[in-house]
Amino acid sequence: MNCSSETFLHLDNLLDNIAENGYCIIENAISAELIAQLQQQCEAQETQFQHAKIGRHQDLQQASAIRSDKTKWFNGDTAAETSYLALMERIRVAINQNFYLGLFDYECHFAIYQQGDFYKKHLDAFKGKSNRVFTTVCYLNTPNQGGELLIYPEKGKEPLAKVAPKAGTLICFESERFPHEVLAAGSTRYSIAGWFRKNNSSANFVDPNQ
Ligand code: OGA
Ligand code: MN
Repeated sequence: MNCSSETFLHLDNLLDNIAENGYCIIENAISAELIAQLQQQCEAQETQFQHAKIGRHQDLQQASAIRSDKTKWFNGDTAAETSYLALMERIRVAINQNFYLGLFDYECHFAIYQQGDFYKKHLDAFKGKSNRVFTTVCYLNTPNQGGELLIYPEKGKEPLAKVAPKAGTLICFESERFPHEVLAAGSTRYSIAGWFRKNNSSANFVDPNQ
């Protein structure tokens, strides 16, 4: 069992679920202390968050019909960010060792959904057009209501999973495979969304989330 004093991350569980289903939902994956530090950082830095743009050719107005949350990219300049990135690095190495995927790095941002904010059904990566391989989502608080994540199968309208955000829950799924959406938040919702990436030397792609 992979378990240190800093984290509860159970890598075996995560790898088994990914191998079987292509996604995993792990409650209490990360220590309450680290989650609280990351959540406090979001609150303290809220003025630095920006409305997300989607796709290079879309303007902010178009993007806001698709998603209304605000984000801030990690830059690794707080101890909490560094600790979180160290956990993600352990997952990256474990996925590479088990699935030979050659994931070469990880990028992530904080996201704040205020009451009513949403992110319509979307894919994080399109085949051959992105270097994003696995998506991670980590919840930093437990909103009273709303803000559920719906994960859909590749084909079909019925969700595979409906996840009520809960502090410490970590979700990981194949970025090209699972459309997903965030229902309107009922109260402020703090999270981290991130992507394990492969090296795409052709660089001839449009990243749907940039
Ligand atoms: C995203 C995303 C899901 C969530 O940021 O791309 O789909 O539950 N987030 O926050
Ligand atoms: Mn997404």
